[in-house]
Amino acid sequence: MKGCDAVLHLAALVSVPESVRSPRMSHDINATGTFNVLSAAREAGVRRVVSASSAAVYGNLPGSPKKESMSLRAESPYAAGKLSVEHYSSVFSSVYGLETVCLRYFNVFGPRQNAASQYSGVISRFSAALSAGEPLTVFGDGGQTRDFVYVADVARANTLALTAAKAGKGEAVNIASGRSVSLLSLAGAMGTVLGKAPRILFRPAREGDIRRSLADISFARRLLGYRPAYGLEQGLGLTLSAALKKRR
Ligand SMILES: NC(=O)c1ccc[n+]([C@@H]2O[C@H](COP(=O)([O-])OP(=O)(O)OC[C@H]3O[C@@H](n4cnc5c(N)ncnc54)[C@H](O)[C@@H]3O)[C@@H](O)[C@H]2O)c1
Repeated sequence: MKGCDAVLHLAALVSVPESVRSPRMSHDINATGTFNVLSAAREAGVRRVVSASSAAVYGNLPGSPKKESMSLRAESPYAAGKLSVEHYSSVFSSVYGLETVCLRYFNVFGPRQNAASQYSGVISRFSAALSAGEPLTVFGDGGQTRDFVYVADVARANTLALTAAKAGKGEAVNIASGRSVSLLSLAGAMGTVLGKAPRILFRPAREGDIRRSLADISFARRLLGYRPAYGLEQGLGLTLSAALKKRR
């Protein structure tokens, strides 16, 4: 890291179910791995480290939209690892003077997301199914809501967090669109983009599935100057056309 001005740390064991099966590996990668990045950055004289946290730190506690000042509750080794990312980042700022920022991403989507894994985001799975002419699988009644944010907006948030003069004191910041949509409305919107109504297969609800997820993004706006530029339909259009091109 010598000579490096700032570090963006995104690497992680990203699957919640895998973290439940392999808590030690999750801890080694997400908690210890981030500690190692922060230590190496400090030793190399890096100015700022921006790390990926997650909306998972809010757990299933009531209250919507989620604000950074609300209580947190880790409900998986993955979420505990992300809380540890936030705590160590804050300690490296207050104790060692390293500038740090943690970004609590909500549901990120966009082209080239891996749809093959069962842990992929719902939009990548829906777009792979739609472009193959297959039905969409919905777990539960489809009324669960999510705050989907397009990947280019997340990339912009990352750049802002690396450079914003006001940030760097160990803040944890929501990065989302600030709008929520149910999975059934999402399926409908994807059908509208493609010009055909999707067929939907309903399967039993998944245990522990959060019912509502919506972020308050006003802190990101104040601290970083972050404003999402992509609406859901625009992001879906770009994601679906990339998925269709890939099949050709
Ligand atoms: N995609 C989302 O919706 C979302 C939501 C919340 C948080 N996040 C966080 O954002 C970050 C990026 O996620 P993503 O969706 O791009 O996932 P991803 O799986 O595409 O990227 C994670 C990367 O980490 C790498 N990695 C894993 N273990 C490693 C190790 N031991 N050493 C080095 N590299 C290792 C993987 O090879 C992979 O390239 C992660 O920290 C994730 O927890 C993502």
